[in-house]
Amino acid sequence: MSKLILNNLHHSFENKPLFNGLSLSVGTGEVVAIVGASGVGKTTLFNIASGLIAPSDGRVAIDGVDRTGQAGFVGYMLQKDLLLPFKRVYDNIALPLTLQNLPKSAIHDKIMPLLPAFGLDELHHKYPAQLSGGQRQRVALLRTYLSNDSLMLLDEPFSALDFVTKNQMYEWFGAFQKDKELTCLIITHDIDEAIYLADELYVLKGLPATLAHHFVIDKSSDFLQSVEYLNLKQDVLRAIQG
Ligand SMILES: Nc1ncnc2c1ncn2[C@@H]1O[C@H](COP(=O)(O)OP(=O)(O)OP(=O)(O)O)[C@@H](O)[C@H]1O
Ligand SMILES: [Mg+2]
Repeated sequence: MSKLILNNLHHSFENKPLFNGLSLSVGTGEVVAIVGASGVGKTTLFNIASGLIAPSDGRVAIDGVDRTGQAGFVGYMLQKDLLLPFKRVYDNIALPLTLQNLPKSAIHDKIMPLLPAFGLDELHHKYPAQLSGGQRQRVALLRTYLSNDSLMLLDEPFSALDFVTKNQMYEWFGAFQKDKELTCLIITHDIDEAIYLADELYVLKGLPATLAHHFVIDKSSDFLQSVEYLNLKQDVLRAIQG
């Protein structure tokens, strides 16, 4: 069954139609990447999928249930990761669970076993300002994962990172995603990131925006070293720019 279905979405800002019948489906355990130029509507699509804004028409279904305009059914890592600077790493991670009114001991039992997988077991007493960019991203990812591990929407999760850290993060997050069979929808400007992490890639473009191109990504282990990989990258780039 599809984990997420966006069906025939329509939405306008200031009478300009941004979406005029956009549909997308994400299967359980699948990673789908959306790439597209700045301002094309990627974050707005996530705001609709997460229920933060209601589309002017169309439906959002999660696990087959209509959740249009209803927040709280996905884990959503916003484009601008908002770690609270005055709270320690642990309390930043605990935030979604605290908001669910879980008892402190239950929160502790959920967080502690996950810290090593996120490379945060030595860091949970620190403040965000004491962390590197990659460590901060892992805090935000763990917080998102704890808010909802059945469907994660990640809006440019690694964009603030340098090239080397980014690559380490893909490897780590890719392995974590496979291990937990997470369903993820990822927005990124980085084609390598999309190809590395995703099973399928869509290019969002135009006004109104459509998912104009769809690529299924070969996940065999030697693909990233192949000529086909470079060809795919070129094709995606042309699809974004063309
Ligand atoms: N609340 C709003 N009111 C009016 N216009 C808006 C609002 N939110 C977004 N827009 C407009 O809708 C369009 C899409 O914005 P959106 O943030 O979804 O783009 P994006 O693809 O995520 O861009 P970026 O890659 O720069 O993050 C832009 O033209 C933006 O100015
Ligand atoms: Mg955006």
